Amino acid sequence: MATTPTSARPAVPPWRAPDDQTGRIHAAVQAGCGRHADWPAFDARLRRHVATLRNELAWLYGSRDDFEAVVVRLVQTAFEAWCGRPAVLKALDEQRERDPQWFQSQRMLGGVCYVDLFAGDFRGIEAQIPYFQELGLTYLHLMPPYLCPEPHNDGGYAVSSYRATKPALGTIEDLRHLAEKLREAGISLVLDFVFNHTSDEHEWAVAARAGDPVCRDYYHIYPDRQQPDAFERTLREIFPDEHPGAFSQLDDGRWVWTTFHSYQWDLNYSNPEVFRAMAGEMLFIANLGVEFLRMDAVAFVWKRLGTPCESLPEAHHLLRAYNALARIAAPALLFKSEAIVHPDEVVSYISPAECQVSYNPLQMALLWNTLATREVNLLQLALEERHHLPEGTAWVNYVRSHDDIGWTFADEDAARFGIDGFDHRQFLNRFYVDRFPGSFARGVPFQDNPATGDCRISGTCAALCGLEQGDPHAVARILLLHGVVLSSGGIPLIYLGDEIGQGNDAGYADDPARAGDSRWVHRPMRDPRRHAERLDPSTAAGRIHAGLRHLIALRRHLPAFAGGRLLPFWSRHPAVLGYRRPAPQGDDARGGVLVLANFSERPASVLPEVLSAQPATMVDLIGQTAFDLRAGLTLAPYQMVWLVASGA
Ligand code: GLC
Ligand code: GLC
Repeated sequence: MATTPTSARPAVPPWRAPDDQTGRIHAAVQAGCGRHADWPAFDARLRRHVATLRNELAWLYGSRDDFEAVVVRLVQTAFEAWCGRPAVLKALDEQRERDPQWFQSQRMLGGVCYVDLFAGDFRGIEAQIPYFQELGLTYLHLMPPYLCPEPHNDGGYAVSSYRATKPALGTIEDLRHLAEKLREAGISLVLDFVFNHTSDEHEWAVAARAGDPVCRDYYHIYPDRQQPDAFERTLREIFPDEHPGAFSQLDDGRWVWTTFHSYQWDLNYSNPEVFRAMAGEMLFIANLGVEFLRMDAVAFVWKRLGTPCESLPEAHHLLRAYNALARIAAPALLFKSEAIVHPDEVVSYISPAECQVSYNPLQMALLWNTLATREVNLLQLALEERHHLPEGTAWVNYVRSHDDIGWTFADEDAARFGIDGFDHRQFLNRFYVDRFPGSFARGVPFQDNPATGDCRISGTCAALCGLEQGDPHAVARILLLHGVVLSSGGIPLIYLGDEIGQGNDAGYADDPARAGDSRWVHRPMRDPRRHAERLDPSTAAGRIHAGLRHLIALRRHLPAFAGGRLLPFWSRHPAVLGYRRPAPQGDDARGGVLVLANFSERPASVLPEVLSAQPATMVDLIGQTAFDLRAGLTLAPYQMVWLVASGA
């Protein structure tokens, strides 16, 4: 592999790194690829980002003798991917580069579903495009559709090939076609990049198991328990129901790192060949027409002895290196972080150089917390202190996902209100699995770990809001949660089925492939009867659907709901959440939208003095009612208002 520039090359421009290495890397790649018709556009971006790429990789692999060659090979892989990138996507690249803030629009709205459970296969999803448009979606996350083991595959998160799909869903070409149809309909396709692990049926894993030394180094495989024991001293257990610790034993007695299930083998990123191979897979997926990659399990990708092996600095360098590659070879591609960890760590992944968007697990968990306690304190504090994100990034706010609800709030935040984090989580678990008298929720425990007292919650939004047992406030709760998600900034994400109040699917317990994983309780199949009911206002499905569509339609026309700026508004009522979304032009109390939301089943009054800085008369856009704020404002149970100055 040529790693030195030929003397005939023109002088390297000023982007060249001081130590000359970036220049040499660039020159080496150019020597092999420079005559290709696709080179100039690639080269322009390479020049902009190669130093970042090199610098990030230097943190990971810089001490290796072959470091320079490693980076050169990687860039060559990226160039090959660029050559295979369809022209429409290259056009999209330019469009997105011209308008990098496009995803901050208040028209952005996400939906997520499983292909098979929602519509059978890729064609079925295509046939649902009118439905997605009716709802207003501009972003569709399809749960991993890649080839995976059967029947156990963690809902697709055990990937056997990133370049093939589950046969029952259709072919990779069908998926490419679907991406195109969605794009034509104004909907960005979102897929996962499950890059922490592969399935044990991936060809690398198969070869590693058979003794291939090259592929063995793709994973963390140990001959005995010595290293695993040493690591486990500082690891947390993720799926203790499935196997204790973080390792699984192979038939030949060796141990392989498996953070999640024993059939999900963690990749060994200390091997740069793993990074290069996975970068190739990432760009392949990008070239299908994917616009957001959901970076799965980001916190776990780097391991170091004596640490929890979560959120290590190297995990960030790795993401930044992936991001630099995307900027070079698939610039329309953005990353969404899936870090369901302490709030301080969640935000550490969010930046234009790392993940541009991120799940907001804190808001999600605290929405449920607030419903249970009828006290907005923790949520209000989170909006005040943990909502703000760097320029050029956005939250993906959601009510629930395909995963469990874990109580990821910061204990130190809770302590400020005299709340003990551990005890409070115990209460929340009891509340949501209906072991608490008077609870409206019908959830199911997930990974109940008596040894640590840890437990998480499964259940659909409707089930957790009390719709199943006919609680009179259930519909209002569902709309309230979604109302916060729709109005607090960033990209709101709806778990499809929640918009019609689908309930739990207890049947999962009869399916041996699913019985051991209660998350399946909240992944029901699309219910055509309920879908038909969505147009019937006399049904719960109809009321939820109409209520949501109303909020979505209002939001689309409110420029104040673009971006993420939010000013907390302390209502001084324990059950009333408040925040202002300033008008794009400024912070004037007259502009923008004041959001107030009552999280209890009793009326709640906000006192006149609390509202005295607001205009005297404001109109609630949701209920189309004018309020004289000088008299204070009383919210009905679970009522939310989006107030604007009258005449605004
Ligand atoms: C992510 C997915 C989850 C899966 C895990 C392992 O956290 O959301 O469903 O079990 O990764 O891939
Ligand atoms: C753990 C992981 C998270 C994953 C979840 C799956 O909480 O931290 O990434 O989504 O397990 O249930």
